[in-house]
Amino acid sequence: MEEFKNVNSVIERVLITEDEIKAKVTEIGAKISDEYRGREPLMLCILSGSFMFASDLMRAITIPVGISFIYASSYGDSSISSGDVDIRTGKGGLDVRDRDVIIVEDIVDTGRTLTAVKKYLADKGAKSVEICSFLDKPERRVFPLEVKYMCFDIPNEFVVGYGLDYAYKYRQLPFVGVLKPEIYTK
Ligand code: PRP
Repeated sequence: MEEFKNVNSVIERVLITEDEIKAKVTEIGAKISDEYRGREPLMLCILSGSFMFASDLMRAITIPVGISFIYASSYGDSSISSGDVDIRTGKGGLDVRDRDVIIVEDIVDTGRTLTAVKKYLADKGAKSVEICSFLDKPERRVFPLEVKYMCFDIPNEFVVGYGLDYAYKYRQLPFVGVLKPEIYTK
């Protein structure tokens, strides 16, 4: 990747600022802490996009909480879903039996990925499963899902930053920006 100095050359506009993200993540962390008090939930971070959100969210949660990671992807390096969700865990699998699982995701789009992950967790014997997503594009939903904790509803635009990529790039931006169409149409 070329050195990335001029964000204005790829970002059309900032949709969610760094300060707005910080305030909202703090609020959601406090809400989860309240609602899970007395329990020790397991944050299940869906790689790759949610790593940054999960890291900030975990620091905003004040009750005991665990974290595990799975890889789930259906898009590869294109912006069109393949229709298949590839779920992978580390060696030895994932032990969620009798755990209160909070799935931590960067964005819910069609809902295909999380529908598959929820079924996977139910099959593995999780006690409860809730979804916490940084972004949601409700108008894109094909698979109905309840997203219990959600930071921002966004319109159907191509966004990058705060963990979200285009072709594996731009995840490091500390804000959420709308990508210039010429970047993904060229
Ligand atoms: C993105 C995102 C969600 C999924 C949402 O993942 O992180 O997991 O798509 O789309 P859906 O609701 O239509 O299933 P992607 O497959 O791009 O992988 P990444 O997180 O590694 O970028």
